[in-house]
This record gives sequence, structure tokens and C-alpha cells, in this order.
Amino acid sequence: MAARKPLIAGNWKMFGRQASLSEIKALWESVGRAAGGVDALICPPACYIGQAAWAAKGTGVLIGAQDCSAVQDDSARTGEISAAMLADAGARYVIVGHSERRSLHGESSELVRRKAEAALAAGLTPIVCVGETEAERTAGRVAEVVGGQVRDSVPDGNAGVVVAYEPVWAIGGSSTPTVAEIAEVHAVVRGTLAERFGDRANATRILYGGSVGPKNAAEIFAAEGVDGALVGRASLKAADFAAIILGHPAAK
Ligand code: 13P
Repeated sequence: MAARKPLIAGNWKMFGRQASLSEIKALWESVGRAAGGVDALICPPACYIGQAAWAAKGTGVLIGAQDCSAVQDDSARTGEISAAMLADAGARYVIVGHSERRSLHGESSELVRRKAEAALAAGLTPIVCVGETEAERTAGRVAEVVGGQVRDSVPDGNAGVVVAYEPVWAIGGSSTPTVAEIAEVHAVVRGTLAERFGDRANATRILYGGSVGPKNAAEIFAAEGVDGALVGRASLKAADFAAIILGHPAAK
């Protein structure tokens, strides 16, 4: 099986100010060389990406964005930010299809796939988010929902895509699925990718996201098929995010 370098990504969402960018250097001071075994990524709000990339210079911390336009050509799209602009500002990754964008901004899997395609065309690695709601889990529809999102949101070709499994009900709260439940859904994601891409699916990193923190990170990283994490609240403070990164066996 292809070796997959773990990716531990912080999604700052609509939090932070310029002053928060000092957390990037502080993070690197805490994790330093130990992080060589993992990719450590911070996705600040888009207006801070250039400054964040500057702050990350000379460190191993990677910078990413939280969303991008599906439109690839420079054009009249007031308020939109293209993947090419994010790459130009110093981003290497971009989150697409986060459940907050799917639910609060009405994004469909078809739109998410076009955003992921735009990211790939600009040389960015898209982190395609999928995950079921609480009602869908209660109704026993996890595999159907997550499998469908993977089928419809991941672009053809699958080159360099990361998938993040984030159960909607586990985001921003305190409950997480059990390690067995996480492993089960990760197997669904990889199985769905394998239906489309065969052995190449083995190269795709699949992250878990939803209430990951310093206390539960090591247990989640040990789950079968988990290649890292997408972290919200606990990525805002360098001390917490460093503890999560250092909880990964590859960062020892
Ligand atoms: P929390 O880690 O705050 O639950 O957020 C998870 C998330 O949505 C990351 O994208």
C-alpha cells in the first residue's frame, strides 16, 4: 500500500485577527522538527493568507484557504476569490465543501466538485469535506450519504485530493464518533474512492474532523484508515494545536 504522509490541518473558520498570525511561529517553535513526519497546515480567513504565508516563511507550517471560487478564469465575479489567487497569495491547500458551506451557503456536491477541480487546476490540493447529519446517522444512512458525497464531490482523476470525513453532529460540540465508527466511515470513503479509481485510491489521504482536541487526538489518529485530522477550535491556539500534532505517532 502507498505510504500516506499524515496531514493535520487547522481550519480557523471566521475567527482570528492579524494578531492571531503570531500563533503560526509559536506553533513551529512548539512542534519544530518533530513535525517533519506530518504535514502541518493552517487555513486562516482568506484576507490573511498572504500575511500568514509570510509568517510561515522559514517554518514547516503550510498555509491553506477555507474555500475558493468554482470559476477558473479571471472574470467579473464580485466578492469571489479564485483558486489561482489563493495559490498566488501563498496557499498550498484549500478546503472545499465544508458542511458549514454546504448547509449555510447551499453548496451542492456538484459545486464542490467544480471548486475542487478549480483548486487542482491552480496547483492547490483540495480538501474535500463530507459527512452525515445526526438525523442521517440515526436513520442508518451514513454509508449512503457519505458515499454519495464522495462520488459527487471528488473530481474525476482524483489526483492529489484529500478527503475529510467530518460528521456534522460532531463539529463544534463535544461528542465524537467512537474510534470504531470513525474507522467504519473511513472504510466507506476509501471503498467509494476505490470503486472509481482502483488502486490509486490508496494514495488519497482521508482525515477525520469534528471536536478533535489535545485529549482525544492520539486515540483518533490510531483509528484504522485515519491519515490525520481537520481541526477547528483547537487549531486557533498554538499550544493546543501543537499538542494535537505531537499526539501523532509520526511526529514523535
Ligand atoms: P471543531 O474542531 O471546532 O469541532 O471543528 C471541526 C471542523 O469543522 C473543522 O473543519
